[in-house]
Amino acid sequence: MPAPDTRAPFAALGGTVPPELAALPTPCYLLDEGALARNGRILGALAQRTGCKVLLAQKAFSNYDLYPVLAPYLAGTEASGLYEARLGAEEMPGGEVHVFCAAYRADEMEELLRWADHIVFNSPAQLAAFGPAARAAGKSVGLRINPECSTQEGHAIYDPCAPGSRLGTTRAQWHAAVAADPGLAGLLDGLHFHTLCEQDADALAVTLDAVAEKFGDLLPKMQWLNMGGGHHITRPGYDLATLERCIARAQRDWGVTVYLEPGEACALNAGYLLTRVLDVVQNGDTTVAILDASAACHMPDVIEMPYRPPLLYAADAGEKPCTVRLAGPTCLAGDVIGDYSFDAPPRPGDLLVFGDMAIYTTCKNNTFNGMPLPAIWARDAAGACRCLRSFGYGDFKTRLGSPR
Ligand SMILES: Cc1ncc(COP(=O)(O)O)c(C=O)c1O
Repeated sequence: MPAPDTRAPFAALGGTVPPELAALPTPCYLLDEGALARNGRILGALAQRTGCKVLLAQKAFSNYDLYPVLAPYLAGTEASGLYEARLGAEEMPGGEVHVFCAAYRADEMEELLRWADHIVFNSPAQLAAFGPAARAAGKSVGLRINPECSTQEGHAIYDPCAPGSRLGTTRAQWHAAVAADPGLAGLLDGLHFHTLCEQDADALAVTLDAVAEKFGDLLPKMQWLNMGGGHHITRPGYDLATLERCIARAQRDWGVTVYLEPGEACALNAGYLLTRVLDVVQNGDTTVAILDASAACHMPDVIEMPYRPPLLYAADAGEKPCTVRLAGPTCLAGDVIGDYSFDAPPRPGDLLVFGDMAIYTTCKNNTFNGMPLPAIWARDAAGACRCLRSFGYGDFKTRLGSPR
């Protein structure tokens, strides 16, 4: 079973299913432009108040049809490699394009340098290999540092500071690299760290102390400091004042331009997955509703994180009269979304609406078991829904072999 988590209950759509949703095909993702704009306004106001620059980390949300909703509030996009860099350049024109990849390929570098404005290297060896060409192309060059400061417990898969991590250069690694090649330091315009995951600003403050202690001597020579993602800025109750103090500290102490590159915070609570109940089975005391959406295929982070997504009209197991396990139709025994309770038992044909489904979903889903990919719809602030993309058998087949 997915671990229980403390995520806030469903709190969107005014707490009801708007009538237009009942007409949509299931399963489908529905992206909420009004909620995206709300996130954008929070991020834009932060940038205005502090002078920091906020980028969209596309690995979390890359539904480019809706980039124009966020673009007025953001400085640009962050990419994990060539394709996302190109997507950001094409679909948020005029915005900065920043790239970080744990290791770049030599055969992609020339094209990458066409799209990217900032290129961040993970290791001194990659900096030495590609930094001179990046600078010659007029790009701003950075190094991802590892401040060796874990602020997440029991979450090693999301902790770039975990022992043995490949992500970021430790101070000891940098020291050894510069001793061997003193010219490396002169290649750098900025430093980057990304160590947080769904965290509040107290964790950033602790991390910034570690950054200051380990890399404080390098920072006055830098033009910028990128504080990565993982800042849950748009979550209700997030401590904006502490975040602003961290930004001000970096600006004051080191004279750097501060970048933040949140993914989740840009599209938090800004999408839904609509699904219908196909069957209900009883095994001993356990009632299981099998849905036309799959955790494994359509909401993979439910299994990977793991977490239990918010569900409209449902409560935690045991809180309402009927507790039901919701599961997907694939062969995977663990294709389970979670245990929820309802006022009445779900029946075949019932519509269920999962919340917070804009992030790490459409960009991560898959067709395991030949599961169809859910269509992607958008809902504007007035409630009008439009289909952005639907998928069929051809989308499943053509990823698997030669064209027929
Ligand atoms: C380098 C980097 N930047 C930004 C992000 C976005 O993080 P989040 O979506 O948690 O804000 C990630 C996520 O893994 C990342 O690896």
